[in-house]
Amino acid sequence: MNPSHLKELIQGIPKTELHLHIEGSLEADLMFKIARRNNIELAYKSVEDLKKAYKFNNLQEFLDLYYLGAQVLLHEQDFFELTYEYLKKVHQQNVVHVEVFFDPQTHTERGVPFSMVINGIYRALKKGEQEYGITFKLIMSYLRHLSEEAAFKTLEESLPFKEWIDGVGLDSSELGNPPSKFINVFKASAAQGYKLVAHAGEEGPKEYIYEALDLLEVIRIDHGNRCVDDEILVKRLVKEQIPLTLCPLSNLELKVVQKLEDHPIAKMLDKGILATIHSDDPAYFGGYMNENYYETAKALNLSTTQLKQLAINGFKASWLDQEAKEKHIEQVKEYFETYSTTQLR
Ligand code: ADE
Ligand code: ZN
Repeated sequence: MNPSHLKELIQGIPKTELHLHIEGSLEADLMFKIARRNNIELAYKSVEDLKKAYKFNNLQEFLDLYYLGAQVLLHEQDFFELTYEYLKKVHQQNVVHVEVFFDPQTHTERGVPFSMVINGIYRALKKGEQEYGITFKLIMSYLRHLSEEAAFKTLEESLPFKEWIDGVGLDSSELGNPPSKFINVFKASAAQGYKLVAHAGEEGPKEYIYEALDLLEVIRIDHGNRCVDDEILVKRLVKEQIPLTLCPLSNLELKVVQKLEDHPIAKMLDKGILATIHSDDPAYFGGYMNENYYETAKALNLSTTQLKQLAINGFKASWLDQEAKEKHIEQVKEYFETYSTTQLR
C-alpha cells in the first residue's frame, strides 16, 4: 500500500490508547510555556535546543529528561493543560478511548500535592469526554525506583480520589527493581478495588513478566517485549489472553529494538498474543497513536487484517464494559469492510 493510503487508512481506524504516561505527552513548546508562567528556568535555551537532547541510549537516559521536564508542572492548571492538549491531539487521530497513566510521586516528591495533580488531570479528562466524546480510565503508577513504603504512602494519598482512579501500575527504572519489590502494595491496592497492571519485560528480563503475573497478579502487561524469549510464557499469555500494551516507537528510541523491522509485534499476533499498539511518551519519542501504527505497519509490512486485529485487540484489552467493547469492535469491523469495498472499486 502506498504511504498516503496507509496513513489515510490508519487515520480512520477508531483507536484506543492504553499505554500513555501523561507526563510523557508534555511537548517541548508547552514545557517552555508553563516554565515561563511558573518562573522556572530550564537548562535548555530553546525548544530546538531541548529537542536536540531527545536522543536516548536506554530507558534511564530518557527517564532523567522526563523527570526534569515534569518539574515545570506546579499548579492544577498545568496538569489540566497538559492533559487537555493531549486529548485535543489524539481526538484528531480518531482515538475514542484512553487509559492514562500518571505518576503522582514525580510531583508529590517535589512538594506538589496529590490533589492538585489529580484535580487538573481529571478535569481535563471530563472536558475531553464532553467535548470530544473520548471516554477514559485513569491509572496511578508507582515509581519502582522508589521504595514500597513510598508507594504505600501514595496509595494512602489516593484514597480520597478512589472514585476517579481505575487502576494502579508500575513504571520507571526497570532493571534492578523487579515486580517482587511491590507485592504488598499491589495486594493492598487490589483490596481497595484498583485494577492492576505493571511495566515488565521492557528492558528487564522475562522473569519480571512472570513476577508481574504470579506475584502482583496483574491483568495486563505494559510492554512485555521479552516474552518472546520463552515459548512457555508465550503459550500462557495466549491461553489466558493477557494483553501486552506495546509501544514500537518508544522501543526504537530507547534501543529496546535496534530497528522497527526487528519489532516482535507481528510475530506476537501470529502466535495469538493479545498485542496492542500505543505511544508511551509521545512528546519524547516522535509519535502519537497514528505514527506508531504507521511506522510499525511500514516496517513490518503489516496487512490490513493485522491492522484490524491490532485495533480490535485494543478494545478487547481495555477496561470498557462489555457492551462498549462490542460497540467499538463492531465499528472497527465496519470501518475495514467499507475500506475494502472502496478499494475494490
Ligand atoms: N515512565 C514513562 N515512560 C516509561 C517507560 N517507557 N518505561 C518505564 N517507565 C516509564
Ligand atoms: Zn510506559
